[in-house]
Amino acid sequence: MAKFRKIGILTSGGDAPGMNACIKAVVSKALTLGVEVVGINRGYQGLIEGDLRPLLPKHVANILGRGGTILYSSRSPMFKTEEGMAAAVKTCRDNGIDALICIGGDGTFRGATDMTRHGIPSIGLPGTIDNDITATDYTIGFDTSINSTMQIIDKLRDTCESHARLNVVEVMGRNCGQIALYAGIASGAVAVVIPEIPFDEAAALEKIRKLREDGRRGMIAIVCEGVTNPDGTPYSEAFRHTITEKTGVETKFVRLAHIVRGGEPTARERSTAMRMGIAAVELLHEGISNVVMCELDGKICPVDISFALIADRMYKSKLQPGDLDPFTPEQLEDMRLLCKKRQNEIQHLYKVAQDVAN
Ligand code: F6P
Repeated sequence: MAKFRKIGILTSGGDAPGMNACIKAVVSKALTLGVEVVGINRGYQGLIEGDLRPLLPKHVANILGRGGTILYSSRSPMFKTEEGMAAAVKTCRDNGIDALICIGGDGTFRGATDMTRHGIPSIGLPGTIDNDITATDYTIGFDTSINSTMQIIDKLRDTCESHARLNVVEVMGRNCGQIALYAGIASGAVAVVIPEIPFDEAAALEKIRKLREDGRRGMIAIVCEGVTNPDGTPYSEAFRHTITEKTGVETKFVRLAHIVRGGEPTARERSTAMRMGIAAVELLHEGISNVVMCELDGKICPVDISFALIADRMYKSKLQPGDLDPFTPEQLEDMRLLCKKRQNEIQHLYKVAQDVAN
């Protein structure tokens, strides 16, 4: 006997390839448990406004390979107000929605925990191309975005090679250098610049000069969007000019921005998104909520939302007074280990990127 008769599902914040696969898996799994699924359009804003649509297997039959989100997305400032929250809860009550699955980033998880607190059990699923959620090794959208980035860079490399140019490529990721690092390694970039590790510009320029002296024609340098100049402007564009000035190598610039947020999700993306979606439905069915589905060491497992949010703040050095008070010493130790694991991973990838940059 199902504990829930009707689950609502929404996607919020920046869209990510794989969100549709997740929606499809939630609908399919729920059906096997006799649970109905209702789609909420435009994230929490749609929840406030009661912008709903039924989700039957026929509605999700051919969406696995589609990028974006069939439920659309938004960032809703109104949801952060008491009034917005009350309207969202009312939509659930009026429409018999017993539980929610919310796909997105940390803002989405805060929304899910608020809804749980207001009597609508909710589960968060990590969906962002940035792979910047500390509690999980993997976020839905990441694999597709690094593959898209790599493919575009391969194309840029062709023309760089023909014209003996260097191309500086700015990639998304906010303050997380994972897209830059994976794409940089996969495309043998001569430099990868990320927010987490200080960049030795002089050494990079010296390397570019030497490579050119040795006959290298085409070269690629990747800069994460979160790296800025002291005045807050993007470092990527400044770096392009510095390279031309200091090395004489003709240098072009491209900002990939949202291009790598769309497109057909990879097999890894679809399967992980589907595993997370199925696990979320199973947990809700067992009466468990207020967790984020994470991938840790290859396994899909639930992590308490408050733990995930505070671990994230710890990693990003954004802790506020009192943040750590609710947690046991063991939980705090687990958070520190997660942060350390992530730092080690970034350092390892950075080292690999440097090792192949020649
Ligand atoms: O969080 C995903 C992301 O694509 C970031 O990489 C980027 O900084 C941001 O969203 C862009 O947001 P928007 O779509 O609102 O411009």
